[in-house]
Order: sequence, then structure tokens, then C-alpha cells
Amino acid sequence: MTSPASAQSHPVPSRVAAVPPPVDFATKARLRSRAVHLRMHRQSVRDPEKFWAGQARELLQWRRPFTEVLDWRRPHARWFADGRLNVAENCLDRHLATSRANKAALIFEGEPGDVRTLTYRQLHREVCQFASALARAGLRRGDRVAIYLPMIPEAVVAMLACARLGVIHTVIFGGFSAEAIKDRINDCQARLVITADGGWRRGRVVELKANVDTALAATPSVRQVIVVRRTGQEGVKMQPGRDVWWTDFVLGASPEHRAAAFPSEQELFILYTSGSTGKPKGVLHTSAGYLLGSMLTARYIFDLQESDVYFCTADIGWITGHSYIVYGPLANGATVLLYEGVPNQPGPDRFWELIERHQVTIFYTAPTAIRSCMRWGDEHVRKHNLGSLRLLGSVGEPISPAVWRWYHEVVGARRCPIVDTWWQTETGAIMVSPMPGVTPLKPGSCALPFFGVVPVVLDDTGREVPRGTEGRLFLKQAWPSMLRTLWGDGRRFRQQYWSEHPEYYFAGDGARLDSDGYLWVSGRIDDVLNVSGHRIGTAEVESALVSHPQVAEAAAVGRPDELKGQALVCFVVLKGALPTPAVSEELRRHVAKEIGPIARPDEVRLVAALPKTRSGKIVRRLLKQVAGGEEIRGDFSTLEDISVITALQTNV
Ligand code: PRX
Repeated sequence: MTSPASAQSHPVPSRVAAVPPPVDFATKARLRSRAVHLRMHRQSVRDPEKFWAGQARELLQWRRPFTEVLDWRRPHARWFADGRLNVAENCLDRHLATSRANKAALIFEGEPGDVRTLTYRQLHREVCQFASALARAGLRRGDRVAIYLPMIPEAVVAMLACARLGVIHTVIFGGFSAEAIKDRINDCQARLVITADGGWRRGRVVELKANVDTALAATPSVRQVIVVRRTGQEGVKMQPGRDVWWTDFVLGASPEHRAAAFPSEQELFILYTSGSTGKPKGVLHTSAGYLLGSMLTARYIFDLQESDVYFCTADIGWITGHSYIVYGPLANGATVLLYEGVPNQPGPDRFWELIERHQVTIFYTAPTAIRSCMRWGDEHVRKHNLGSLRLLGSVGEPISPAVWRWYHEVVGARRCPIVDTWWQTETGAIMVSPMPGVTPLKPGSCALPFFGVVPVVLDDTGREVPRGTEGRLFLKQAWPSMLRTLWGDGRRFRQQYWSEHPEYYFAGDGARLDSDGYLWVSGRIDDVLNVSGHRIGTAEVESALVSHPQVAEAAAVGRPDELKGQALVCFVVLKGALPTPAVSEELRRHVAKEIGPIARPDEVRLVAALPKTRSGKIVRRLLKQVAGGEEIRGDFSTLEDISVITALQTNV
């Protein structure tokens, strides 16, 4: 593990003038004042069980009320364990008896411009019918289903239908390759895969079904594949007895489906994320606690109101898509805009066009997207009337003050508060964020802990560091939407998150708290990179590289990058092949094929040797310096062979 000081991020300013909230925002907001916010927060951390029990009773619809709140046998938490509910019912059925029944739940816009709206009633019907079809196909509570779909309504339908049946879904991001699909399916032993012929991306078709076919050559657990016809392209192969079109699969299945009541700790989904080893980790979330966390945070942090049109640009294959496109907003009865494609198709103003066309009021995106838009130019934003916007959000990586200001001024016209939300796949819901309209904002800081959250910053010896000092970020108390374990690997769960400090959850980030208690996250301090907001494990990239027959050894590191946050630089020692640019290119392609295009290295440097300690450990600190074009400095006394350093600076 490297020290926090080496975390790569924008330099954190020591003193920043806070931007006061817009004057009239709080008059109509859920939280009317800073005093109310702080009082609620104080109560929530003083007696978290009382706070969460109250929220769970008020917000969730229970089939059987719980009597136990938290059973906390570190690191294992059980929330509301004797209660029963159905997550899909909480996201859909409960709205049907209200004026929301005919309100738009999803407004979908495909990349080619096709638009489809589903009201709560319509979405409910689709989910019920798909759930009936899944049940007819023999899917039972606890079975696993893999979802590899574009950002289309069927992705939401599939997730909620699984939830309705107590079937555990694992959504695989559409940018992952066949290899990655195979690994995930085999790890969780999925019985069924839901995919599409293809999806639209950058004006071209992504061949999703073809990727699934390649993956399924080595996934013995899969019995059936359901295929949505999205692009209608020709040449999609359907394997008789295994593959069925979505429309045929649901044919004759009843659109009426009575949701069963499941225990609170019923597994809801597994989401794979990168860690510090070669194998992605299957983060497991369960039902009631997760739903409460995503619902409550969406309600307060996005200040969801009945008339809002809420647009989150994340992919459904990431946790942001799970918590803030599907579960959180729908449980709140919100209208969600779902967009299939990239921000610059057909032109660099697509986001702004979408906001204007659908009168979006809340916009939630990642700094990497904001940086791209900023580079494309203000004129693309200014071409559109963004007067409907009232709140902006940011997630996934630190946002630099300069980018924050652009977002605030050019997109938000200084009217909209920005909620910079810090959280992780593992936390399930936002942990640290300003409260819109009441928290003074400091550009670059994700501000204050959410209800029930107590962040602490510790040094390497486990002692709390003074305010203003950088250290390692931990969370002190259990919270309802926390991960329950890593699928099939309880040991790794304990070791990864609960071994750095015996009582606190280790987040893997470097951070500091300032004198006002605002949190400044500087970035990952483990061997995980954040490339364009995507979490990529260096060990995963290295194991993909060494799977190539020409590669003897490899090390992957991050280099600060203005657009992507971090760029991926790989140092490779070949077995004997001639180190030519063609080999570098071939290795970049190889990683993209093994993991997916998101992990394609920005640079592959072919070198004679890697710097190692006498015990054979690669000295990443030096590689990072070389990758970043910095002068190599530090202590070389532990190096096995000091001449490697000069060799590193000149590619072989
Ligand atoms: O390093 C932090 C960064 O993203 C990591 C979590 O990645 P993932 O599990 O893929 O979830 C991303 C979406 C929630 C964190 O460990 N991160 C996330 N949000 C922020 C952030 N870094 C700084 N500021 C944020 N607002």
C-alpha cells in the first residue's frame, strides 16, 4: 500500500472561500435550513439505530414490520433482520395507489434519438410480466442472473423483475469484454443471461450478443439467454434450446404478479468491482438496508420533488446506475431520464440538448464527463436553454476547483447548488455530500457526512490525524446500505475492508478533514486506478498483460491526466520478441480484449527490466515517477539493481 501523499489527484487548496447556497433554494427544499440539517445529523450519529429505525418505518413499505434494528457482529451487519418486504414493490406497486400511477417513471432516449416513456403503471406491468416469465422459466429466490444490456428500459425491467422474485442480479457493464463476462458469470454461477443483439454507442453498434456467445463457451452454469432486439442488426446467432428473444420469452406470461415478501437481508445484487488483486470482487448488497440507503440519500441529496425530471448519466452497470437510476429514484417515485449513448453523439452538445428537450431539473454526472464538455467549449452549452436545471451533482472522482467552477458557472448559471457526492460500490449509497441549498459549498470538497455517517482520517499507525492533515479514510459506524460480504470470499471481505483497523471500515482512499469538518478526498491509495471515473485494478491489467505469450513481466501504474483523471501506463518486459511499436499496440489491444475497452492502456512501454526490491517486489513509486515524466527521486537503497533506473527512462 502506498502512502496517501502519493495519491494522484489535483492539488488540494488549503483555504477556499465557500460559495453560499443560492438564496431561495432552501425555501422550497426538503431541508429548510442548515440548523435543521446539523440537528438531524447530530441525532443520527448519537443514536444511529433510533435514527435508521425511524427512517425505515417512514420510508419503506413493510410486509412484516421489523422489531430488531441492527445486529452488528463486526464485520457482519444485519439490518432490520426480522422484517419482510419486497424491493420491487417498494419501487413500483406502492406508487400505483397514488397520483403517481400515470406519472412518467422512465423517459428513455436512445442514442439514435428514439424516445419512449414508461409511466409507473406501464413499468410495473412490464416488470410483472417479465417476472412471471422468469418464474415460469424456473428461476427461484437466490438464483443468479447476469444482465449485459445497453442503457435501455429493459435493463431496469430486468433488474426489478429479479428483485421481485428474490433472484440476485449481477449487471455487467456493456464495455466489458467476453473474458470479463465469463469470469463474472462463473464466479457467481449465473443460470441465465439477459442481453441484447447490440447497443448504440458513438453511432456504431456494440456487439453485445456476440460477446456473450464467446463468453458462454466456458460458462457451464448458464442454461438460457434472453435477447432484447435493440439494434435489429442482421447476423445475430441464436442457439436453439438456449437463446430466446425477449418478446418470445414473455409471450403468454401474466402481467399480473403478486410479489412475495422477503426477509430484509435477502440478497439483492452482486456487483463486481476492481480491487488490489487480479480478480474483481463481487460486492454483495441485500434488500432493506440498501433500499433505505439509496432512497433516503436520493430524497435529501437530490432534493427530489414531485415535478423533477432527474438525469443521471452513469451506466446501469456501475453502482451509480443501480442506486441513482433505478432503486433510489424509483422508490421515491421520481421521473428518471435514461440515455443510451455517449455525450458527443451526434454532436458535443448532446447532454445539453437532452436537458433542454426533456426539461431536466437535476443533472448528476462524473468529473471526467464535465472535463470533456469543458474542453469541447462553452458554446455548446450556451446554445441551449438550460433554465430548467435547479441542481447539479458530481460523482466518481475528485472534481478540481477549476472544473467545479466551470460546472457551476457555465452549466448551472450560478443558480444551481452542486452536490459533490463521495461514495463507493461498497457503501451502496452516498456517504459524504453537501445538502443542497443549505450547505455552503467549497469547490473540490465533498463537504459533510450524510446522516449516520462518521468519517475518520487516520495515519499509518491507526491514530487519528489532526484536522487539515492528509491520511487514510475510514468510516466509523455500520450503515444500512453497507456491503454485506464479497460473494464467495468472506476472507477477502474481512481482509480488504476490516483488517487495517479492527473497528472501522477502510475505504481505500486518501483524504483530509478541514477545520470546518469538510472532507477532501484525494484519490485511491491502494493499487486501484480511477481512469475516466472507472475503477481499474492495476493487478487486473497486469494479469491480462502476462496472459499474452510474449510478455514476461508487467507493471501498471497511473499517470495524472487532465482529461481522464488518471491515464494507464504499463511497463512490460518481453520474453524475447523485438520491442517494436507494433508489439506495444498489440498489447494495448490485448488488454482491451481481455478486460474491455475501458482498460486499454494509454501507453505500453517496453523496458529491459522492472525496478524491484531485493525480495522481488516491484517498486511502483519509481514507475509512477517515470510514467509521470518526473525526476526520479527517493531512496534507492532497497533496489536489487540500481542500473534498472537509467534503463527505465530509455525505452528498449
Ligand atoms: O476513490 C473514490 C472515488 O471512487 C471510488 C469508488 O469507486 P466506485 O466503487 O467505482 O464507485 C464510484 C461511484 C460511487 C472511491 O473510493 N470517488 C467516488 N466519488 C468521489 C470519489 N473521489 C472523490 N470525490 C468523489 N465525490
